[in-house]
Amino acid sequence: MFFITTAIDYTNGAPHIGHAYEKVLADVIARYRRLRGEEVYFLTGVDQHGQKVQQTAEKEGIHPATFAKKKTKLFLNLWKKLGVHYDGWAETTDDRHKACVQAILSDLKERGELYKKGYKGHYSVRQEQFLTDRDRNEAGEFGPEWGEVVEIEEENWYFRLSAHAEWLKNYVSSNPDFVIPGFRRNELLGALANPADLDLCISRPKERLRWGIEFPFDPDFVTYVWFDALINYISFAGYLAADNAGLPDFTSIWDAGRPVHVIGKDILVPAHGVYWPSMLHAIGFPDKRLPQILVHGWWNMKGEKMSKSLGNVVDPDELADKFGVDALRYYLVRDIVTGKDADFDLDRLVMLYNQELANELGNLCNRALNMTARYSGGIVATGAATNADDHELRASLKAVTAEYRVAMDAYDIAEGLKAINRHVTVCNAYAERNKPWELAKDAALKPRLDSVLAHLVESLAHCAVLISPVLPDPAARIAAQLRMDSLLDLKFDDLQWGLVPDGHETGKPKPVFPKIVTEEA
Ligand code: MSP
Repeated sequence: MFFITTAIDYTNGAPHIGHAYEKVLADVIARYRRLRGEEVYFLTGVDQHGQKVQQTAEKEGIHPATFAKKKTKLFLNLWKKLGVHYDGWAETTDDRHKACVQAILSDLKERGELYKKGYKGHYSVRQEQFLTDRDRNEAGEFGPEWGEVVEIEEENWYFRLSAHAEWLKNYVSSNPDFVIPGFRRNELLGALANPADLDLCISRPKERLRWGIEFPFDPDFVTYVWFDALINYISFAGYLAADNAGLPDFTSIWDAGRPVHVIGKDILVPAHGVYWPSMLHAIGFPDKRLPQILVHGWWNMKGEKMSKSLGNVVDPDELADKFGVDALRYYLVRDIVTGKDADFDLDRLVMLYNQELANELGNLCNRALNMTARYSGGIVATGAATNADDHELRASLKAVTAEYRVAMDAYDIAEGLKAINRHVTVCNAYAERNKPWELAKDAALKPRLDSVLAHLVESLAHCAVLISPVLPDPAARIAAQLRMDSLLDLKFDDLQWGLVPDGHETGKPKPVFPKIVTEEA
């Protein structure tokens, strides 16, 4: 079992392109692992508690629950539109999640992991966290990244995170694959270098924040939003759940492989790299039950961070309507290297779709099926003798399939797509060179014509399967036009030469990737 999760998105605003990227990336990985023959459980969802939701709801004059529900709908609708297929949906206001968070709090208290103390100091409303002098900038001030900073004095509950710091340092140092890619791990080790003052304030007094999960043993307090949110990865996987809760069986999800959490680079330190492993350790998870963290980079706008205040946020819903889901899904994983940042560029979205899908793969589909229909009555004949050119094409497919696998296993979706595209280019050049339209003029050349057409159709079938994790709908359209209904039920290891049987009748081509025509064109 491969258990994959994403970060759960804040419901204080609408989904943006960064959210869409992360969900599509996880969806592609989940689909690819299924193609590899693995059983997969994909969990995603929304983070509905916290001060930001409370504040924004207050501004709108509605209850935070109503507000969070309204925003949650936007996420649900978008994932449906973008073909993000999850198995589990996490909403932190779900009673089953609340019960799990409360049980964990009680358990940690029993274990002596929690204590209550008074505190006076600075607090960032935007980041919902207490600040120390280490958070001041060179000028000795709290910079604009903290938003409104207020002075507060209050009692709170603390988690003895510092008691786990030594263990965590050792764990991170001796488990190089805890965080991928590797350079992010160095960031984490850097943050762990001086673990002063690590204890984590995990409560908020109700007079300041009502919108959260109540402390089971101290009802004047609610749970700090990050402590609540991180637990979604286990609560919705069935941890401590009743048999009839409608959640999966925890051990069959969590222990039958290594869970992978897909998150953005901004929430590795401290949330996923420091808090979460320490929390799991404190709850009693042994090292071998800790998840792996896959950290992706950010989509920026012309090198700048996307933010509401800069007015440069891209709305994925609008983009999907304007350019189509296929173009958007393709672009989101094609023009970024997993782990690194990239610039979101609409011209490149259109260019990559038009060039690599409409002109290349779309063209191969159209040609292979059109010429088979026109010159061979739609019948694929695989028995003809092959020549060196055919062997080269087969070798290309073999090499590309192996390269695709290496890239996809390493979560490098862009390289996986480039590998497919290399073979598509080889196929189109092969068609140009072998000119089936000329071969068709001479009956004596029929065996050669058959072989060329069969090689193109066979290649198309393989490419449809390989591209299916990224573009499931176009892959299904190609399978339908090939009249190979069960093509997409194949597993990766089934991808051997000979998927299209001798005498198979293909269907009529219809454009799979209609070209995007922009206003300037
Ligand atoms: N609610 C927390 C996560 C809790 S997980 C237990 C949160 N939410 S968020 O809505 O701010 O971000 C959700 C995810 O979207 C994060 O992984 C974040 O890194 C990612 N992205 C937000 N903006 C992004 C880009 N511009 N580009 C790529 N991903 C980005 O953090």
